[in-house]
Amino acid sequence: SSDDWAFLCKADEVPVGEIGTAKHPGGMDLAIFNVEGEFFVAVDRCTHGAASFYDEGELNGHILECAWHNGTFDVRSGAALTMPCRVPLRSFETQVIDGDIYINPRAKRFQKPD
Ligand code: FES
Repeated sequence: SSDDWAFLCKADEVPVGEIGTAKHPGGMDLAIFNVEGEFFVAVDRCTHGAASFYDEGELNGHILECAWHNGTFDVRSGAALTMPCRVPLRSFETQVIDGDIYINPRAKRFQKPD
């Protein structure tokens, strides 16, 4: 239900173009991506290795690059774009209410963009 949304942090803690961090209610580290004022949230671990995007990621628009082996993802869909990354991000539905970022704690089912 809508009561299940989990608070992560204040939206203004993650400026445009930056990557923030917060804990999933289950304890996992999450990465929060601000793409021109729109927020996207994923598990903070590269699906290729164990890199943290918060520590090792670079966000350029909606493209996330992992510094370990330079694989990339589209944070809007979670899709892996370039090698060596093949597995999509584990992403969460996100909403901002009164300047606070929330997620639906159940990971989204990945849908390949058109
Ligand atoms: Fe991220 Fe290899 S760990 S590209």
